[in-house]
Amino acid sequence: IDELLAEGVDGKRVFVRADLNVPMSEGLITDDGRIRAVLPTVKALADAGAKVVVASHLGRPKGAPDPKFSLLQAAERLAELLGAPVAFAQDTVGPAAHDAVNGLEPGQVAVIENLRFNAGETSKDDTERGEFADRLAALADVYVGDGFGAVHRKHASVYDLPARLPHYAGYLIATEVGVLKKLTEDVKRPYVVVLGGAKVSDKLAVIDELLGKADRILVGGGMVYTFLKAKGYEVGSSLLQEDQLATVTEYLERAEKTGVEIVLPVDTLVAPEFPDLSGKTPSQPSTVAADAMPAGQMGLDIGPETGKLYASKLADAATVFWNGPMGVFEHPDYAAGTRAVAQALVESKGFTVVGGGDSAAAVRILGFDENAFGHISTGGGASLEYLEGKTLPGLAALED
Ligand code: 3PG
Repeated sequence: IDELLAEGVDGKRVFVRADLNVPMSEGLITDDGRIRAVLPTVKALADAGAKVVVASHLGRPKGAPDPKFSLLQAAERLAELLGAPVAFAQDTVGPAAHDAVNGLEPGQVAVIENLRFNAGETSKDDTERGEFADRLAALADVYVGDGFGAVHRKHASVYDLPARLPHYAGYLIATEVGVLKKLTEDVKRPYVVVLGGAKVSDKLAVIDELLGKADRILVGGGMVYTFLKAKGYEVGSSLLQEDQLATVTEYLERAEKTGVEIVLPVDTLVAPEFPDLSGKTPSQPSTVAADAMPAGQMGLDIGPETGKLYASKLADAATVFWNGPMGVFEHPDYAAGTRAVAQALVESKGFTVVGGGDSAAAVRILGFDENAFGHISTGGGASLEYLEGKTLPGLAALED
């Protein structure tokens, strides 16, 4: 983007593909980290006199307008954060979008409606995606890719549009890639990875890759119960991916052979059912040993001894990558495990990276100071796929 700014953007229409896919609850934004993350790019372009057209997806609407997934709230938050008005177009490539863009003066910003309201955005068909990309290209003179969270998606605005316009990487993408390079090229050891989140199937590829790279992998979240089951323990009514048991068993065996330490919980918090996140119905947590989970009880967080164990395993780390909460942190009874890991990262003298929409939101929602971490990535799937060593369509399109 510095190259673009040096060439001059005064009066040019610059399309910024951001990732404004922020978590929302009852129609309100619960964490605006992704909006704040794109501000440097939007500000720099606006200050240089560009007409800035910001575009993003939000959630997973089914290729047609759906008010639940409108970007209006995100556009309003962007305006607040910029301290300047932001025009909002109620369609993506239709008359409202053209009116909004035509109405921009140099230095002004518009947000167009959710890209996924058009089926062409996510289509697997190259022609359909290409047609949508053509319509997006008509809104701009230049493309800036800055939606790091979506670079792993081969979508029209991420992959096809940059091929149709002069294209540049924004500040956020440059920062994110710079950090992830530190984890893949010549990483400082001990390299400790903390993996959590609900599904083990989302993490298999990254575990496979990390078994040759990390020194220690600490496992928590809903995915850990598949590991405990693979060790031969009963897991009550906890989340379990039976179809992944064989792969997880193979990883545990490979880890032993290669000397990578996979650390599993020694205790866990359980309750008879998933907690009511509104807090209206009280939950009934109890702490049990991880190898003695009672039938009919569901694991919802790592236990206090595990929190201490994981903190001790993180204490000497020179590099840490953390993806995925340790439990149902949205409920106060099950936030302690995620809090313990976050605290250990804050106290770490190593370079700490928090990756993933959920874990990034968790540290902010739990009240941690973002500046206490080396880097908080805006990418969940994107940062995992980068660490898996995959080619990411949205980065390839910009390098091209
Ligand atoms: C994310 O939240 O990881 C990105 O915004 C991508 O969203 P998606 O998984 O719906 O493509």
